[in-house]
Amino acid sequence: MSPVVVLVGPPGSGKSTIAALLASRLGKTHRDTDTDVENEAGKPISDIFVDSGEAAFRSLERAAIVAALQDEGAVLSLGGGAILDADTRADLAGHNVVFLDVSLSEAAKRVGLGVARPLLLGNVRTQLRNLMEARRPLYAEVAKLTVDTDGRAPEDLAAEIVEHL
Ligand code: S3P
Repeated sequence: MSPVVVLVGPPGSGKSTIAALLASRLGKTHRDTDTDVENEAGKPISDIFVDSGEAAFRSLERAAIVAALQDEGAVLSLGGGAILDADTRADLAGHNVVFLDVSLSEAAKRVGLGVARPLLLGNVRTQLRNLMEARRPLYAEVAKLTVDTDGRAPEDLAAEIVEHL
């Protein structure tokens, strides 16, 4: 099995955007496992969470990742929580995994939780912070390369990643 380029990182780290740019630079297709899960389930991820719960989503996500890692013609972007699964972390060991790092403030802006409306959005921002802090060691564990994305243009990041592959 040939190594696949796989982008991991929290929501708002730019995984999908940068994976698409990398795919075109490398002459591959871009495959996003969240999209694979939505296609398999026939509904958006938000509906899977509401209708069936997070555990059901995680098991669909796990199956999507197992399938996608066989796809040597693809650059993959994974959902932000994919690395919570120990089997997924083990499976990623043989691949070119890139951790797209991002600060909390930048991630919050990119997912629409910018600095305005602290009373409305403060709790959600705290959840994002907790989630990022808890997962950081897991992203670092699977990554062969870590790239800081704050203030960087996606094209520059894609070029830098290609150089390091
Ligand atoms: C999740 C992140 C989402 C998606 C799902 C769960 C998470 O993907 O997989 O909503 O647990 O962080 P993005 O990282 O692309 O937003």
